[in-house]
Amino acid sequence: MIKETRLLLKNITYDDQKCLEKYIERGGFRGFRKVLELSPDQVIEHVKVSGLRGRGGAGFPTGLKWSFVPKNSGKPVYVVCNADESEPGTFKDRILMERDPFLLIEGILIACYALGSKLAFIYIRGEYQYAYKVLLDAIKEANQSGYLGDNILGSGVSVNITIHRGAGAYICGEETALLNSLEGKKGYPRIKPPFPAVKGLYGCPTVINNVETLCALPVIFDMGAEEYAKLGTEKSKGTKLFSVSGIVCKPGVYEVELGVDLIGFINDVCGGIIENVTPKIVIPGGSSVPALTWSECEGVKLDYESLQNAGTMLGSGGFMVFGDNVSALDLCLNFAKFYAHESCGQCTPCREGAKWLVDILQKLKNKTAYPGDLERIQAICSGIAGHTICPFGDALVTPVISLLKKFPDDFSIDYGVTSVSP
Ligand SMILES: Cc1cc2nc3c(=O)[nH]c(=O)nc-3n(C[C@H](O)[C@H](O)[C@H](O)COP(=O)(O)O)c2cc1C
Repeated sequence: MIKETRLLLKNITYDDQKCLEKYIERGGFRGFRKVLELSPDQVIEHVKVSGLRGRGGAGFPTGLKWSFVPKNSGKPVYVVCNADESEPGTFKDRILMERDPFLLIEGILIACYALGSKLAFIYIRGEYQYAYKVLLDAIKEANQSGYLGDNILGSGVSVNITIHRGAGAYICGEETALLNSLEGKKGYPRIKPPFPAVKGLYGCPTVINNVETLCALPVIFDMGAEEYAKLGTEKSKGTKLFSVSGIVCKPGVYEVELGVDLIGFINDVCGGIIENVTPKIVIPGGSSVPALTWSECEGVKLDYESLQNAGTMLGSGGFMVFGDNVSALDLCLNFAKFYAHESCGQCTPCREGAKWLVDILQKLKNKTAYPGDLERIQAICSGIAGHTICPFGDALVTPVISLLKKFPDDFSIDYGVTSVSP
């Protein structure tokens, strides 16, 4: 029987958790106080020991990323919290920010202490109006109570947090587009290298971390990095939040130990599949990861390596389950329209290719496709993947390729009539 393991979501059900006094009463800032007894390098070492990997999608080891920040560069170091959360199917950061804002503030403080940063930014998705308000209030309260600002708790550490609202662009979740947007420029991704750790915001060393990654830090330092590392699997440590939607009885945000069984997660934690619907497609990590057929889910575990071995990814943990009442073509078209709309337009293959995909998928839906159109989809996808500045291009073709391959019947152009090539 799989159960939730609530570490980050521990206090999520308390309505008064947004109040600093209650946050502290329930153990808030214990992690940060422990951090203050360590040197910044020791903090980075502890994060490495914890095995924490970035929860924004790529799963890059957090401690390692931090260690790339040059020491004594003579430039300020910035910490940027990526709260853009626009990946279809993903809504876990929202819950953290709306329900436990001080957890994020404490996480940012820990990151700033480790990296010698005095100024942090939260780049929040523009549509998250309520989360923005909750965070604003929390930052204000923390400032007034000595948990933010100059000489925090008399420690000599000074950190300020500025919150910046996005204007509704998915691409601004990509870290370098986010930095450009934060600088007041168009949200175009930058060519890497240089990586943000060396040359990021305003040309200064910058660490960008996801909300969930930062919220894990107070938990790790409170319980101890070794204890945290005991959870999960050998290479996927700790817990992970999943935003679950689709044909399960209890959709929502759940936190489980990494490495739990995928089907067990659906049955035991998400209440199982709703009555009279046969499960067909599972997308475990947001719209940018390959889809699994229901039969492929058998025996798969929810961790970075197992999902990769199964041909998909953990991604952002946007866990979507679709039934056999959903056509893979409709799903594919829906995603393709999203990506075509959200392409920033900087790279030609992505800008033009996304629209071409929508056109062909729409023709398939309208039953007006031509023989050769399926091959054209493949060719367009090959022209996009790996040929763009940022991974958006790969993200856009991933659902198309996997759905087309795994559900060919849904894309059939055998209409029972003779179609004429153009
Ligand atoms: C198109 C695109 C959109 C992204 N959107 C987000 C997002 O909304 N939130 C996020 O944390 N990471 C997002 N990422 C990943 C970030 O670029 C970056 O890897 C992440 O913020 C790093 O934080 P982490 O190491 O804590 O995971 C996106 C990446 C791409 C390519």
